[in-house]
Amino acid sequence: MSMDATMAAQAADTISSIFAPVSTPAAKEADLARMVLWLSAVVFVVVGGLIAYSVVRYRAPAGEPGSEPPQVYGSAQVEAAWTAVPLIIIVVLMLATGRVIHEVQAAPQPPDAVEVTVVGRQWWWEIRYPKLGVITANELHVPVSDSLSRRPTFLTLESADVAHSFWVPRLAGKTDLIPNRTNHMWVEPHEPGTYLGACAEYCGTQHTLMLLRVVAETPEQFSRWVEQQRQTAAAAPADPIAAAGRRVFLGTVCSSCHTVAGTVAKGRVGPDLTHLMSRATIGAGVAPNIREHLRDWVRNPDNLKRGVLMPAMQIDDKYLDQLVEYLLTLR
Ligand code: CUA
Repeated sequence: MSMDATMAAQAADTISSIFAPVSTPAAKEADLARMVLWLSAVVFVVVGGLIAYSVVRYRAPAGEPGSEPPQVYGSAQVEAAWTAVPLIIIVVLMLATGRVIHEVQAAPQPPDAVEVTVVGRQWWWEIRYPKLGVITANELHVPVSDSLSRRPTFLTLESADVAHSFWVPRLAGKTDLIPNRTNHMWVEPHEPGTYLGACAEYCGTQHTLMLLRVVAETPEQFSRWVEQQRQTAAAAPADPIAAAGRRVFLGTVCSSCHTVAGTVAKGRVGPDLTHLMSRATIGAGVAPNIREHLRDWVRNPDNLKRGVLMPAMQIDDKYLDQLVEYLLTLR
């Protein structure tokens, strides 16, 4: 069932291709990749064509088997040509690549850029906006830029366990998240939309389902999202079942791994659940975030994501229902 759910969770989105860039660094990299491919194609056609021509033109004539062709030894001009031309091609590729690497890596951070820290974890993404006071998981929200107002997002990449790699093909190239090291990258989408990404460095059992989505929004939508994420609902929900679920949540080990801002739950091992229901998927993209999957997930996360580090809670159906009712209030 998990693959169905995964595909359903992604169905709304388009294919992630590096040749459909919507972000400044991705566009520079796509242009470079196209140039390299075209140059390689020309080399392939010229070299392949010359070989094919020689094979046909100089094959042994019918009726004269065994006659030795004229033997030719060296030609300074030809050798100079086939040394110089590839050398020129390599130098052109090297300069073009160096220029794009420099433009992407050395891009200065504008003063009003959005700053985000992404921490790779087995197998999900912790996402923090230190200046905005927002903490979320697996779904990165960023504003779009236009030619009049640029507001790129600069990412600081870290890992809590093993090496991971942050890759959203339409936004930028891959950058690794490495334990005890800090890497940097940036994205600058120009079109609102949801862009899919994934972990691109093998990091254990569920590397495949360490999915990522980036929601690029207009500056107004992004501000509203930030406002909403900063709110904390400290009070218990009015609904008695959800209120009972809150007691289950705060009274069991849930709260030692997860945070719900405004409560005693301050765990940092699992994703922050303060605004759980504002996210489209659960389990880093394994399933749409709806009651049915949420219940499945809490009952036994292993069913949806085998090998996941969250344990099955083994709680009675009654408490499970209360707990899920509470989770559904975390908007
Ligand atoms: Cu994280 Cu692969």
